Order: sequence, then C-alpha cells, then structure tokens
Amino acid sequence: SELDLKEILDFAIECAKTVGPIIKDGYYRKKDISEKLGPADLVTKYDKEVELKIVEMINEKYPSHEIIGEESASENIVLSKKPTWVIDPIDGTTNFISQFPYCATLIGYMVDRVPVVGVAFNPILDELFAARKGNGATKNGEKITVNDTKEISKSLIITEFGSSRDDKILDIVLENMKSTILTPSRGIRALGACGPNVCCVASGQADLLYETGMHIWDICAVSIILEEAGGVVMNADGSTPLNYLNRKYIASCTPELAKEVASKLKPIDVPADGIE
Ligand code: IPD
Repeated sequence: SELDLKEILDFAIECAKTVGPIIKDGYYRKKDISEKLGPADLVTKYDKEVELKIVEMINEKYPSHEIIGEESASENIVLSKKPTWVIDPIDGTTNFISQFPYCATLIGYMVDRVPVVGVAFNPILDELFAARKGNGATKNGEKITVNDTKEISKSLIITEFGSSRDDKILDIVLENMKSTILTPSRGIRALGACGPNVCCVASGQADLLYETGMHIWDICAVSIILEEAGGVVMNADGSTPLNYLNRKYIASCTPELAKEVASKLKPIDVPADGIE
C-alpha cells in the first residue's frame, strides 16, 4: 500500500545515508583492488563492507524479504515475486578507485519483479535521487522530470564501453556507437556508472542510456526513479516489459526515442544472470 511504500522508501534512504560516510572515507584513501571478471571489473573492501551493512539493516527490519546484492549474488540469480531488495553497494567502483566522482549506492525494492522504490545516493557529490511508485521522483527533495526528446537527431545519448574486453563484443559496441552518433545525434556521454547515467536521463541532463552487460543491481533502483520522472525502460531490442536479468537495457525519456535507438542497435550476445 501507499503507506508501506513510503516507509520502505524512507528506510532505503536511511540505509543509503548510513553507508555514505564509509564510501566518502574510502574515496580519499589509497585502496587495495581485486579483479572480479577482468581488469575492468573491480572490487574493494569498501564495496563488501557497504553491502554487508545494508544487508544487516534490511535483515533486521524486514527479515522475510529477499535480497540480491552485487557482492553476494549467486551466479544464477532467481528473481521471485516476493518483496526483494536489490543492492549495488558502490555503482561505479572504477570511478570510486580513481576518485572520479560518479559513484553511488543503489538500493531498489521490487514486488512482483517490478521495482516500486528506488534510491541512488552519491555521497561524494551529495546527490540523492529517490522515487516510489505513483509519487514522482526527486533529486535532493526537488521534483525531477525527463525531457520530451523523440528523435536521435535532437538527443544527447549516454552509453558505456562496458567491462568486457572481448574483441568481438567491442567491435559491436563501437559499431553501435557509430550508428548512433552518425544518425546524427548531438553527442555521446559516459559517466562510468550506470546509476548516475540513468539519473542524468531522469533529471533531463541527457535523453537516453543504452547498454548491454550490466546487471539487475545496476538498473533496478534507477529504473523506478526514471519511470517516476516520466521516462521508460525497455529491453535493448525495444521490447517491453524489461527483463531485469537479461542485461540488455534502454532507459529513455520517451518511448519514441527508445524505439528509434533500438532499431539501430546490433544485438550483443551476453548470458542472462538468471531466471525470473
Ligand atoms: C558498473 C558500472 C558501469 C557499467 C558496468 C557496471 P559497478 O557497475 O555501472 O558503468 O558499464 O556494466 O557493472 O560494477 O561499478 O557496480
């Protein structure tokens, strides 16, 4: 109900604010870095510490809820219809390591496999994006809305090179960037973190993000923030509803723009993270 979602959102904000100081403290220090799947997929002790703290807070307040967290997820994720928290402790870990200030804690809450509450908190820039279903989206308490751009030729597009260093995949990534920029679009941007990228679309700083290869924890929280700001999410081929485990994502200010971009994108074959 309405009231429950308000309580859930307030709690998600409390969690994000609680871990902010851990991230801010770590940001300015020299860090030990471990590779996960490759040189562009990194983790630090701060990612783990932040996730543990949030998991602990959720387990104490909502012991019956499911949790999917980046640092503790199994290789084969099962997303059920039950209330499920989806956490990226530090989205933009490479930025965090490099002191490039786009890193955020993403906390989403799904019911029936659909996100209904989302928080993205960047403690370095002190930016808090928040939304709950039916109630709009805010940045630091102020209402945000998407642009109404419907054509690539009038749009600023965000996309990432991604973390794969596979030659064949990179060829398609570059080809897709080329067809987007040559449509022509106004330009391409990349902050290096999916959450902050989508928040740019939600607040009208850019018009669309597309990417293949990210995970449910990169997109869950910010998808409800974008939708509540008036935007849309879909699969990279332009189909809906979005499958949150398929790792092929478009987040757009309008469905028209999303469809035009989808029609230009060559698909990239990545394995799904699990089953719905
Ligand atoms: C990564 C960032 C990056 C995106 C990757 C994500 P992480 O998240 O969002 O922009 O290109 O696909 O995995 O690993 O820093 O939380």
